[in-house]
Amino acid sequence: MGDDPASRVYVNSKKKACAEIGIKSEEYALPAETTEEQLLELVQKLNNKPDISGILVQLPLPKHINEETIINAIDPSKDVDAFHPMNVGKIMIGNFDFLPCTPAGVMELINETGIDVAGKECVVVGRSNIVGKPQAMLLLHKHGTVTICHSRTKNLAAVTKRADILVVAVGIAEFIKGDMIKPGAVVIDVGMNRLENKKLVGDVHFESASKVASAITPVPGGVGPMTIAMLMKNTVKSAIIQSEK
Ligand code: GUN
Repeated sequence: MGDDPASRVYVNSKKKACAEIGIKSEEYALPAETTEEQLLELVQKLNNKPDISGILVQLPLPKHINEETIINAIDPSKDVDAFHPMNVGKIMIGNFDFLPCTPAGVMELINETGIDVAGKECVVVGRSNIVGKPQAMLLLHKHGTVTICHSRTKNLAAVTKRADILVVAVGIAEFIKGDMIKPGAVVIDVGMNRLENKKLVGDVHFESASKVASAITPVPGGVGPMTIAMLMKNTVKSAIIQSEK
């Protein structure tokens, strides 16, 4: 909804991924002045549409729309973002249908390093509902010792320097520098920030951090494509769930 340029890029990537693997996708690009009632009507329509197995409302929504109201209206069994409170609660308990796409993609990346999360010091910088909080939970499920840092954390560098696995999702360009990282750490950069010169950078200062880390994700081309891959996985799962109803 509206004309957020980043959302446009994300939605295009998601549609392209669907087309590549043979998932039918429908886009509803609503003008910024659409009312909450109209958006809720569309969500209801898609909840009831039998050939739609997964629904995703691209965030952020314009200020006059209550995001929570909209997310709560999505049928939890079609909630491929795993943002609905029922799915969030299931993730907390550890008995879930859908994992949130970005944290799930991060777990796949960590898994690929061959490092076992069990017993490791895991530090998540950022506490959003979309990334930080569920990320901490997924690391906890894998038996990591998890610390969540945020804007009020005192002596942040002392905490990040303890991390064997460091996940950064704060939305501040190049915020984590190499001297805040433990030598040999696995560093996952969830950030996507556009500098004034239009260059796309993460929340980690790649040049200094890559000299210290044993493994590090680039921006772009790191977490982003994994988020999309996990969305595809959730969508296939939602189709299976719908077919079993
Ligand atoms: N906006 C930023 N990240 C996301 C995401 O993962 N899903 C949705 N729906 N909107 C977003």
